[in-house]
Amino acid sequence: MTSNLQLCNYTFPKGFAWGASTAAYQIEGGWDADGKGPNVWDTFTHQGGDRVFKNQTGDVACGSYTLWEEDLKCIKQLGLTHYRFSLSWSRLLPDGTTGFINQKGIDYYNKVIDDLLTNGIMPMVTLNHFDLPQALEDQGGWLSENIVGFFNKYAEFCFNTFGNRVKMWITINEPSIVAKYAYENGLHAPGIKESGTGAYQTAHNMIKAHAKAWHTYHLLFKEKQHGFVSLALNANWAEPLDPTSEADVKATERYLAFSLGWFAKPIFIDGDYPPLMKSSVAAKSKEQGYPSSRLPEFTKEEMQMIKGTADFFCLNYYTTRKIRHQEYAQARPSFQADEEVEEIKDPSWPISSIEWLAVVPWGIRKLLKHIKDTCNDPIIYITENGFAQSDPAPLEDAQRWEYFRQTLLEILKGIYIDKANVKGYFVWSLMDNFEWTEGYSKRFGLFHVDYNSSSLPRVPYTSASEYAKVVSSNRLPEPEKKLK
Ligand code: GAL
Repeated sequence: MTSNLQLCNYTFPKGFAWGASTAAYQIEGGWDADGKGPNVWDTFTHQGGDRVFKNQTGDVACGSYTLWEEDLKCIKQLGLTHYRFSLSWSRLLPDGTTGFINQKGIDYYNKVIDDLLTNGIMPMVTLNHFDLPQALEDQGGWLSENIVGFFNKYAEFCFNTFGNRVKMWITINEPSIVAKYAYENGLHAPGIKESGTGAYQTAHNMIKAHAKAWHTYHLLFKEKQHGFVSLALNANWAEPLDPTSEADVKATERYLAFSLGWFAKPIFIDGDYPPLMKSSVAAKSKEQGYPSSRLPEFTKEEMQMIKGTADFFCLNYYTTRKIRHQEYAQARPSFQADEEVEEIKDPSWPISSIEWLAVVPWGIRKLLKHIKDTCNDPIIYITENGFAQSDPAPLEDAQRWEYFRQTLLEILKGIYIDKANVKGYFVWSLMDNFEWTEGYSKRFGLFHVDYNSSSLPRVPYTSASEYAKVVSSNRLPEPEKKLK
């Protein structure tokens, strides 16, 4: 095992993309500046109600709407080849439709894109990272099928406006998080609790919206612009708690079907949901007296339209779980009761100061292999990976860098030993930012942001200088300890 890596001298493949990622709501601030319309996170945070740490908001965040040049300095200091950021839909189209276009929003993103390109940095652009325009939420949001058309128009507008320079597009970030947190358990904006149906309906519309936008690109823009379109899927790796228990083994398969497979199978394989997901939800729905499954079905035409609509695979990886079969006796239907799993963190895994983020670097290698095997060996970009520190966070974060280093080593094994086609790696995040319900209490940045100072200064953590060394040499420093 070791020899393959030694052979390659811990070097990443030629042309490997080195990036960092951010998202509009988490960094921009300027929530109502220059004609921007409100989005669901503006509304959600302004309503208070202790759903976000200390009722914090993204009103100011890192101030990137006015401090873009400071972000650019950080990106250059790291020597990144790529930068992933998202467009704020309601900054460009204040009511979500092309009925009114906000030129100031276009100007802002034009500057970001042009500055990146001038500096030889490739933009990777996400069209929607959790921040749906409020005006569209008011018409049903992701729960309404109308969103498919709205999203397609927005995507077409973005391809048309920025596609002469942007070649890597991500339609939607982490649809499973939106489905489960925004429309099923209500923990994320817009806070809708439709247990047992909300997640499935949301995902159904998101998959169709993504697929339609992909076709729009390939029909109208690809020939001229030569870009690539995908979506970003988050996934935990998972293993049975008791590998000798058939129930746990099956539960683990179900867990993967209800997370990665939910989106990856229709989009990368055949236009339809995983059989395990279909049978579980159908059985539970029947028991509960529903006339049909709570999991919506795609028509034959829709399946045709959906399959094969990703030009590469974007993986957001943070953690791993042990899985135990678990039945939930609940009065009302729920995603959790359909899935019938209990997620367990092995006590030996360090926790990176955010409760769900157990540090399991080897999980990424297993996941890469799983994606290679189940999704037709796609080109893979790891579009997010990171570790949080709690606030206040020391600038010397040697322990955190060790987590990054171990993860990068596992990626090398994935590339050279398992032959996964990994073409790039993006750290979440370029700088500390608004971490959704955790507000500013968790810091994921390579750069520290001082929110108490009005100039919001960005200062590198040790991880930033270590990452810069990896980026410039395209290789990991040789580990001192012997590899297992
Ligand atoms: C992802 C999300 C990011 C970031 C990260 C860390 O799910 O795409 O916006 O918040 O998690 O929690």
